[in-house]
Amino acid sequence: MHRIWPPAAAGPVARADLERLYDYPAATWLSVNFVSSADGAVTLAGRSRGLSNSADRAVYPLGEDLADLVLVGAGTAVIEDFTGVKPDEETRALRERHGRAPVPPVAVVTSGHSLPADARVLTDVHVPTIVVTCAAAPPELRDAWTAAGAELLVVGEETVDLAAAVARLADRGLGRIHCEGGPTLFGSLLAAGAVDELRLTISPMLVAGAAGRIATGAPIDPAALTMDSVLAEGDTLLVRYLVAPTAGA
Ligand SMILES: NC(=O)c1ccc[n+]([C@@H]2O[C@H](COP(=O)([O-])OP(=O)(O)OC[C@H]3O[C@@H](n4cnc5c(N)ncnc54)[C@H](OP(=O)(O)O)[C@@H]3O)[C@@H](O)[C@H]2O)c1
Repeated sequence: MHRIWPPAAAGPVARADLERLYDYPAATWLSVNFVSSADGAVTLAGRSRGLSNSADRAVYPLGEDLADLVLVGAGTAVIEDFTGVKPDEETRALRERHGRAPVPPVAVVTSGHSLPADARVLTDVHVPTIVVTCAAAPPELRDAWTAAGAELLVVGEETVDLAAAVARLADRGLGRIHCEGGPTLFGSLLAAGAVDELRLTISPMLVAGAAGRIATGAPIDPAALTMDSVLAEGDTLLVRYLVAPTAGA
């Protein structure tokens, strides 16, 4: 793994450097993670797995390893068959070294359409998953999520008020947030002005087809990006962008 940006920091990157680079710069910080093909596809055969590679897998889990919370949309949690986070001994030691709780909870964002109560993200966990939902979610479904072991955070009426949800999570000490997408949630988070950083792996492949982009939904006032670091491993680029607040947020 080589760092190629900024030029003053260019050179080989050791594991300790990676940990410093991919740690959270503040106790309240939301990083969104994606892997994309070079032609902008966010899925291959409907999943992200085919776009990932060993370079991506060497770096992107650090965001989860150092997070207080893993945030995901209901679509991705179900399609990618998420479970709770289950750190191995090495990761637990890393987390302890950084003063983090042994296991970060997962928080799933839903208005109630896409998250069945038997989803593994609710049932196959070491610590309770937090369902981040809104008043429009049917009461019987909320009861079923709770019966499955989840905690509920209800913020917003027809949809989740993501800025308020992130603030409420930070108040609970869950401020370092590793968001695993997907594109609908990323679009919603951008509209809410809640994103501090984009961690994007550009996979060296072209796939064409009809796959979506990493952010969807209503257009936003363009958010400017500052390139904070670029790593290269073989033909794969791993870019960390800082996101400037948008005018409307
Ligand atoms: N390449 C990558 O790195 C990557 C990463 C992640 C996902 N993906 C791919 O992306 C695809 C899934 O995309 P997606 O856009 O459907 O998934 P998503 O963003 O994970 O989930 C969408 C769902 O999240 C909920 N949601 C988002 N914002 C909300 C808000 N403000 N209020 C209430 N609910 C909200 C809604 O759930 P309800 O319908 O329940 O209301 C919505 O339908 C999958 O194919 C996955 O493999 C790729």
